[in-house]
Formats: sequence, structure tokens, C-alpha cells
Amino acid sequence: MCGIVGVVSNPSAKDIVLTGLQRLEYRGYDSAGIATLNSSGSIELRRAVGKLQALVTETETNPLQSATTGIGHTRWATHGAPTTANAHPHIGHMGKHKLAVVHNGIIENYQELRAELGQLGATFHSQTDTETIPYVIATALERSAETLPQAVHAATQKFRGSFAFVVMQEDQPDVLTGTRRGAPLCVGVGEGANYLASDPLALAGLTSKFIFLEDDDIATITPKGVSILDGKGKPVDRPVKVLDLTTDLAGKNGFKHFMLKEIHEQPAVVSRLLQSYTNPVDLSPVLPLQGLNLAGITHINIIACGTAYYASLIGKHYIEQFARIPVNVEVASEFRYRNPPYQKGGLFIAVSQSGETADTLAALEHAKAAGQNILVFTNVTTSSMARAADAVVDLMAGREIAVASTKAFMAMSVALGLFALQLAGAKGQAAAEILEASRALRTLPAFLSSQIATTKPLEELTEKLLETGSMLYLGRGSLAPIAFEGALKIKEIAYIHAEAYASGEMKHGPIALVDKSLPVVNLATSTDGLFEKTVSNLKEVEARHGQIILVTDAEGIAKLDSASRDKMHLITVPTVPAFIAPMVFTVPLQLLAYLTATAKGTDVDQPRNLAKSVTVE
Ligand code: AGP
Repeated sequence: MCGIVGVVSNPSAKDIVLTGLQRLEYRGYDSAGIATLNSSGSIELRRAVGKLQALVTETETNPLQSATTGIGHTRWATHGAPTTANAHPHIGHMGKHKLAVVHNGIIENYQELRAELGQLGATFHSQTDTETIPYVIATALERSAETLPQAVHAATQKFRGSFAFVVMQEDQPDVLTGTRRGAPLCVGVGEGANYLASDPLALAGLTSKFIFLEDDDIATITPKGVSILDGKGKPVDRPVKVLDLTTDLAGKNGFKHFMLKEIHEQPAVVSRLLQSYTNPVDLSPVLPLQGLNLAGITHINIIACGTAYYASLIGKHYIEQFARIPVNVEVASEFRYRNPPYQKGGLFIAVSQSGETADTLAALEHAKAAGQNILVFTNVTTSSMARAADAVVDLMAGREIAVASTKAFMAMSVALGLFALQLAGAKGQAAAEILEASRALRTLPAFLSSQIATTKPLEELTEKLLETGSMLYLGRGSLAPIAFEGALKIKEIAYIHAEAYASGEMKHGPIALVDKSLPVVNLATSTDGLFEKTVSNLKEVEARHGQIILVTDAEGIAKLDSASRDKMHLITVPTVPAFIAPMVFTVPLQLLAYLTATAKGTDVDQPRNLAKSVTVE
């Protein structure tokens, strides 16, 4: 997700903008820029490719005049390569109106707009869709609109796609206008100064009061205050939320990377969820689902992307096993375009760390429009998805800074497990099994802690993987999603191609890949009744001289013949109840990816090409 920061009437506008952009760096980007209005009301623009430091250096070697009004942007390239010319802010002018804009999202009809604007004399200097925005607004100001908010309103009627953007107008100091459709934008309400940002974190320390705009709201900020028009151009009041962001500003606390810190935070995250969402006496789950009629649910869609999708697959496993309700799990980008049939009274569950992923949000809105009940599992309760839901489960993982998700994935898995148990209880199912699973969850933090501390076997394995070009991850049952998540992690941060399959699928094709150069990671717990099946798959790999990496428990190892065992690289996990096996088996795969990436020297917290929250399709 691109980062947006805007400030009015703060004498150190440049520093506020650059500091805000720094706080959003973790979301991933490839260029950055800033525009300010100097004392004569002229727009000054500085942009740079690469890390934010390049922009800071640019503003030092080519200083901006002092200014009280500024906008800034970190760009995650969609249309156009990461170049200075494509970096935001983008300038557009028509007649006497000159504007600067920073934007997050995609203006899908930008080609036709460029052609139309070109006829009016617009000259484009970038390959971006964004550059059309200031020109369309400036044209509206030239033609009909009397005020900038009116011009923005007129302009947004012409845009198709998703956007959150902030506009600064030359000769109009201390005024910024921002709007959104499908991408987040909030107002920071200050004392004598006001702000706009794509994420409240950018404004931490400046204010704790935030207004989260709704789609097509148009907010105008001045030193005197904030005014908002709704999608019909009518004045509207939006609630001011008070957020304590101090913990979000926490650094790495001595860890080398945020990802390692967040892996270590997982036991505490699980403990927090259990304290908040289970009855301390009978351990029964008490998720805040008052907005739902659980007993009446007959079908569930769980829709998500990436890591959240793999957590959703674990949720499916639990819900079908305990509540006996059929569950469809699908990636959001496919679900929303296949015009899915919905069951009356069906439940749509969105799982999203950020609560802003464009594909998942659009799928949610599609289901909501079809009358489905909406439940959201998210780590950001002020997010667009949370605000659109009938019920929200806060993942309580704390701000997840590393682009590669770890603690949020763990929180999703546990929260979905609790949901499955609560739904089963509401359906009058499986009381004994529910209690047994609830008890197993109570032991999870300790098992996670012991796993996180066990890195030696993984460090030895990492050495063997440094030159690897490709890997295979296999798992069965509730461990199959963990194989997928493990493969994603090592792709994301160690840049090693990895494919995951349900173990039983390997013989239907992928086995052709197996030879002595291919590391095959197998997950097998002795407690789910599938161990012997997985051993058969191991034999198939062994017969073809594949490099077998077996993640299993002591009981599993004891079942192996010594000849086979001696050929494997064993990663031992504790013997745990099947209900918590997915979570426990996740940790060695997170650490394997982390250690391999660190050994390879990749950018672990901000891997190349990745964004923390993908707010474009
Ligand atoms: C996970 O490591 C990735 N960062 C990515 O797959 C992520 O899970 C996906 O983009 C979904 O994000 P969300 O949970 O914020 O919706």
C-alpha cells in the first residue's frame, strides 16, 4: 500500500511529512516524494527513487523553503517503473489552477482520461495513472467548480477504480483536500494543525484523535478545523476516534529484525487472545459475535489473500470438523469475479491482517450487497473491513511491521479455531471435543515458546539451503495449509522458489521434480492419524533420492526405520494434540525462512516488490 501524509499549518511541514513517511516505510515502497507550498504560495517538489533516505538527502542537497503546508508519498509501483518521474507527488495544471496530488490505488480509466486531457493541453511527464488526477481536478476548477472540494467531487465522478488521494493547490496555503474510494484515508485532528494520512501510524505523536473517512467522503483540512462532504456532496459529521499509538511506535527491542521480534511475540499474542476470548472458568470461547445468529448458519465462505488465505484453510478444517458446517475457502481475487451463488442466511468471513486488502474488501462488499452476514477477523479494528462488518474479531496481535506475516497468521489460526468451537457449541455439537480442544489451546503458548527457542537444527539446515533454487513443501489434513504458509514464507523473504502440495498430491505430478537436488519439507504429526500415510509419501521421495526434511514429533520419529531416518534431516517438534499441531508446526517453518533469508542477506522486513497491505487489485 502506498503511504500518504499531508499536513496543514504546522511550521515544520517538511519534517512532519518525512517523519510520517518514515513510519510507513514498513509497508513496502520503491520511491518517495514531497511537495510543499512556500511562503509565496508556490509548489516545491522533491522526489527520489529507492529508500526514503534518498529523498531526505535530496531535500538536504536541494533544500525546500520553509512551509506550513505539505504532502508526501511512498510509492509501491503499479503503473510505471520506480523512477523519479513516476514518483508522487504529481503536478497538474489547467489555466490558472496548479495542483499537486499524492495517491494510493489505481485509476483504471486513466488511459481515456489522458487522451481527453491531452486534447485540453495537458502534458504528461510520467507513465502513471495518478498524473491524471490533478489535471481532472484543475479542469473542473477551470470550468465550473467554485471550490476545491467541489472540483474533487466532480473529478471523482469521472474516476473508475480505487483511490485515496490528497490535493494541494498552489496559492492556497494551509488547505488540503482528501478523498477515498476503496483505499484508506484518515484525518488526524490536531491542535491548531490538522493532518491527512493513509494510516494513523504516520501521525503518531502528533495527535491521538482520528476521523476515518468513508468511501467518497471529501475532507478539507485547515488550521481552523476539518469539514467533510459525503458522496453526494453534502456536509456530514464523522466520529472522532481516540487511538493510543504509542506501542505501535515500539522499535525492534533488541531483535535484528521486526520479523524475528514478531515471531517471538507469538506466545504473548496467543495468551492475549485466550484471556480475551475464552471463559476463564470453563475455557469455552466467547468471541464477540453478538451481531450474528450462529445457530442459524448453514454455510460459510471464508475469503482472504496470501497468508490470511492459508489461515482460512485451517479455519475450514476446524469448522467442518467441530461444527459440521460446509465451508468454502477461496482467494478473494477469484471469488469476487465468479458471481458466486450465496445461500440465504450464509456467513461471509473476511480474514485480513490489515483490513484494507483491496481484493478481500471488494469481495466483502459483494457479499454484503447480496445480504450475507459479514464477520471480519482483522488486526486493525479501525479498518475499512472492520467498519463494514456485522461482527469483528480483533486479532490483538499488535502492529505487525514486517511485511511477511507471522504473529498475525498465528492469531488468525487461533481465532478461527475459537470461532469453530464457539459455532459448534451454538449448534449443540461435540461438547467433550470442544472442551478437549479448549484445553489444548491453553497449552499452546508454552509449546510456541519452546519451539521459538529451538533454532539449532534449523541453522544447520539453513546452510544447505543457501544455494537451493527450488523446494517442495508437503503436508496432510490440517498441516497442508501450514505447508503452503511455509512455502510462502521462504519465497517472500529468502526469494527461493517453493511449491506446496497436499502430501497425497505429490504422486500426481510434482514427483517428477524429485531428484537429489530438491529439498522436500514434509510435515507429519503422530497425533492426527495420518502419519503412516505421510511415511508412504516419504518413501516415494526417498526412492528418488530427494533431500527429505521431516518436521515431526518424537513418536513419529520412533515409527521410522533407522535406514530411512538416517537419510533425513529431522526437525523435531513436541508431541501435541492435533488441534494445536498447525500452530506448533508453523514456528519451525517461520524460523527456517527467517534464518535462510538472513543468511542470504535479503531485506527481511521489507522484501523486494512486496507491500504490507495491497490496496490495489
Ligand atoms: C503474508 O506474509 C503477505 N504479507 C501477504 O500474503 C498477506 O498475507 C496478504 O497480502 C493479505 O494481507 P491482509 O492479511 O492484510 O489482507
